[in-house]
Amino acid sequence: MSESDEFERLLGQRPAARAFAPGRVNLIGEHVDYHDGVVLPVPLDQGTWVAVAPEPGRTLRCESPVFGPAGPYPLEPFSRVDDYAVYPLALIAALRERGVDVPGCVIGVRGTLPIGGGVSSSASYLVATARAIDAWLGLGLDAATHAALAYRAEREFVGVACGTMDQTVAALGRPGHALRFDCRTGATTSIPLPRDRIAVVVVDSGTRRDLRDGRFNARVQESTAAARELAALRPGIRALRDVTPADLEAAAGRIDPVRLRRARHVVDELARVDAFVDALRAGDDARCGSLLDASHASLRDLYEVSTEPLDALVAECRAIPGVLGARLTGAGFGGSIVVWCRREATHALERDALPKAHVSNGVQPRVLAVV
Ligand code: GLA
Repeated sequence: MSESDEFERLLGQRPAARAFAPGRVNLIGEHVDYHDGVVLPVPLDQGTWVAVAPEPGRTLRCESPVFGPAGPYPLEPFSRVDDYAVYPLALIAALRERGVDVPGCVIGVRGTLPIGGGVSSSASYLVATARAIDAWLGLGLDAATHAALAYRAEREFVGVACGTMDQTVAALGRPGHALRFDCRTGATTSIPLPRDRIAVVVVDSGTRRDLRDGRFNARVQESTAAARELAALRPGIRALRDVTPADLEAAAGRIDPVRLRRARHVVDELARVDAFVDALRAGDDARCGSLLDASHASLRDLYEVSTEPLDALVAECRAIPGVLGARLTGAGFGGSIVVWCRREATHALERDALPKAHVSNGVQPRVLAVV
């Protein structure tokens, strides 16, 4: 059955428009996007389909084969409802800020990404919603605007203090390419992956987190406070992007040690992103792998967003011959890891590493995607 027919069944009518947007795996550059940094995400084949059909009245309703019906809710004023309708309501609120009045409608959602799996199901859902509403109303918005709307919706209305990485790669990423995205300037470059020899394997640990649960926002606050304290020591620092290793040395003993650790992760991680891009362009696969390893150690020890199941999974995967590097990907606190390995190692990874990596909640890890 085609995507259209599935939606017709789900909505009880033919959709006026439908659209897809992918999830992503971030290769390197973790927890740096909200510090004006540079990131290197890759879009996945998996993602979210959204369909829309008009309905009388000024309300929004949602249908999903997984979550069931939600709403109807008034389109305005925006209200942070406690189910998956909050995302389209937020996107519609972001459109309203730009003077677009979205009529009453029903939204159908079908996705292939795990929720809370560290592969950006929410950004994929929001960008797909922006594309579907754009197509329905004939707004003619470009991809960067879809990303900006999705970001505004998630940050201001859903209330997650996220950066701009996930929405940008969902809207602008090219399959089989890493998107080098400079979150300060907005510049993007697609860099091809060496898919003839290297596989980027995304392994879902099966452990979950919700960015709305507050731990993610707490890290954003701590590290933003670090940026403020460092800026008080040296003028010219607008964000952690501007901090140098010398600034960190000068700050030792003068700013809170936990905040200093958070800042150190960001400064080191940004150097790793540059090194990774150079290694990728030079075809130095081993160097790319060791940079992922170093990123994981930093996320575990300095940013403290790893968990025992994620560490165990990374270690088991790393022990497979042909695996050149591995690390948690996305926000952390559960979710997925990304493995950089020789193509021929993919099978052994799945067969030998995953069964050993028993996660604490008893859920078996699984390969989610191979790029
Ligand atoms: C989440 C956020 C992103 C980014 C990552 C961590 O996915 O939505 O903006 O901050 O965490 O790199």
